[in-house]
Amino acid sequence: MAEETEDRKPQIILTGDRPTGRLHLGHYVGSLRQRVVLQDSGDYDRVFIMIADAQALTDNADNPEKVRQNILEVALDYFSCGIDPEKTCVFIQSQVPELFELTAYYMNLVTVARVQRNPTVKTEIQMRGFNADIPVGFFTYPISQAADITAFDATVVPVGEDQLPMIEQTREIVRKFNATYGEVLVEPEPLVPQGEASKRLPGVDGQAKMSKSLGNAIYLADTPEEISKKIRSMYTDPGHVHLEDPGKIEGNTVFTYLDAFCEDRHFAQYWPDYQNLDELKAHYQRGGLGDVACKKFLGQILEEILVPIRERRKELEADIPRIYQILEEGSRQARSAAQDTLARVKGAMAIDYFADEELIRSQADRYGSR
Ligand code: TRP
Repeated sequence: MAEETEDRKPQIILTGDRPTGRLHLGHYVGSLRQRVVLQDSGDYDRVFIMIADAQALTDNADNPEKVRQNILEVALDYFSCGIDPEKTCVFIQSQVPELFELTAYYMNLVTVARVQRNPTVKTEIQMRGFNADIPVGFFTYPISQAADITAFDATVVPVGEDQLPMIEQTREIVRKFNATYGEVLVEPEPLVPQGEASKRLPGVDGQAKMSKSLGNAIYLADTPEEISKKIRSMYTDPGHVHLEDPGKIEGNTVFTYLDAFCEDRHFAQYWPDYQNLDELKAHYQRGGLGDVACKKFLGQILEEILVPIRERRKELEADIPRIYQILEEGSRQARSAAQDTLARVKGAMAIDYFADEELIRSQADRYGSR
């Protein structure tokens, strides 16, 4: 726990994922490993990670079973990567109904035009081919996301770059709310992982994004056999046909992954012919270095990361009811935090009628009643 002093506002993290599939290496480099560092840093008073099932349902209304199954998968992935329920409150969005009340009030502060301008929403609408058939719930999810963030007085929201417009929209809602009703909500800052490599890990086929629908992802829960098969099939440089041919690094998935995961010590351990990645790249570009050797090296590095994750997952899988208990307890704690915020919000909007003695007294006076 970080130290509390009078002039310091509590530092609170809130972030989350939609439970629409198991988590993969892209999630690991882009968010999970950073979350563990943040959790363990001691810089934060509270850390909340939300499994956004209600948001997942905004475009999966016909498939609640998929969402239901993946809640457990995502929780197992979190805890096997080192998210520690003693330090981080992991909860399920739908179990905190206060979030939906906040959303309803925030909706009055946002115009349709503003949501339509949100670049993330724009892209997602395009990706899903929505027109006027867009579910209202999907269209308004940026507003619900503002509720997720503000309900916990989050100061810091770790997200990928694609989510920055969501945080911007949240900040606007906070400013609008505070200007209208008084200083109640906390304006959050986004936190994007540093370094090119952690921005976006391509799929094993070289496509820009790892995704379930493209079938090009390495999952944290994959077996060693599945992983070595995927690495062997990885996209490299199609012009690099013979060993002696010069090879290209740009757009070569093996090297993009090495950029994300390789450290100098890996060479000492697995491939002492080279000191560091620059030397390896230079050789590949010169010619005389094969893809198979590079892939084998990458496989060794990935195993180093994945073995402990896999082992922890096995242990966790031995007591699934315990995972649900942790999520239930997390949801209870999250709910209590959100209740405090909702009470402040309703107070500021003066819609807490029965707690408002002044209101009751003045109305009674107006009618000359007791
Ligand atoms: N929209 C996020 C995603 O698709 C998930 C999410 C929901 C979230 N609510 C949030 C992220 C609040 C950060 C803060 O990944």
